Amino acid sequence: MTGELSQLTGLDEQTRKYFVHESSYVDQSSKIGDGTKIWHFCHVMKHATIGKDCVLGQNVHVGPNVVIGNRCKIQNNVSLYDGVILEDDVFCGPSMVFTNVINPRSAIERKHEFRLTLVKTSATIGANATLLCGHTIGRYAFIGAGAVVTKDVPDYALVIGNPGRMSGWMCRCGLKLRFERNQHEEGSYCKNCGAQYVKRREIVRLLDSARV
Ligand SMILES: CC(C)(COP(=O)(O)OP(=O)(O)OC[C@H]1O[C@@H](n2cnc3c(N)ncnc32)[C@H](O)[C@@H]1OP(=O)(O)O)[C@@H](O)C(=O)NCCC(=O)NCCS
Ligand SMILES: [Zn+2]
Repeated sequence: MTGELSQLTGLDEQTRKYFVHESSYVDQSSKIGDGTKIWHFCHVMKHATIGKDCVLGQNVHVGPNVVIGNRCKIQNNVSLYDGVILEDDVFCGPSMVFTNVINPRSAIERKHEFRLTLVKTSATIGANATLLCGHTIGRYAFIGAGAVVTKDVPDYALVIGNPGRMSGWMCRCGLKLRFERNQHEEGSYCKNCGAQYVKRREIVRLLDSARV
C-alpha cells in the first residue's frame, strides 16, 4: 500500500487490521472491519461501511454509503451502488449486477430517486445475476446464475431465470429442500446437514438448527 493511500485510510500498515492491495483505493471516511481483505483494483468510496472478515475480489466497487455486513464474500467485478445494503454472510457471485435507478436516462438526474436493495443474512447471488433495485432478498435465499430478479425474494427461496421465478427452496447448507405435507403444514429435513424446516403459507422457517 502506498504512503498516500495509508494516509487516506487514516491508519498505517502496522495499525490497520484489514488488508488492502496496493492497487486499490479506500476513500477517507469509509469504515472497514478487522480481518477484511480487499484485493486488486477495488475502490471503496466515502461513507461506505464494510464489516469484519469480508473478502472483496478483483475490481469490486463499493459506492458511497453502501453498508456491507460481516463475513460477506464479493467476487470479481461486482459494483455495489449507493442504496445497497448487505447483511452478514452474503455471497455475491462474480459479475453479478446491482442497480439503484429503475428508469435511468442519461440526460435526467436521478440521484434522488435511488431505490434501496436489501440482501438479508446468508443469501447467495449467483454469477451474472441482475437485481433490479427496490427489492429485498430474503435470508438464505439463493439467486441462480444469470437470473434477473424483479421482485422480493422470500427467505430460503431459489430463484432462477429471466424474469426470475421461484423454482424451489434451498437449505442453509446450499442444497435443495423437498417438502412433504403432513396435516396443516409441510416439513423438510435436509439429509446433508440435518436442518429441519416447516412451511406454512409459503413461508419457510428453520425448526432445528442444532446441526447447521
Ligand atoms: C440454481 C443452481 C443452484 C442449481 O439449481 P438446480 O435446480 O439444482 O439445478 P439442476 O442442475 O438440477 O437443474 C434443474 C433445471 O434448472 C435449470 N437451471 C439450473 N440452473 C439454472 C440457472 N441458473 N438459470 C436457469 N436455469 C437453470 C437446468 O437447466 C435444469 O433445467 P431442465 O430441468 O429443463 O433440464 C445452479 O445452477 C446455479 O445457478 N448456481 C449458482 C452458481 C454460481 O453462480 N456460482 C458463483 C460462484 S462461482
Ligand atoms: Zn442442509
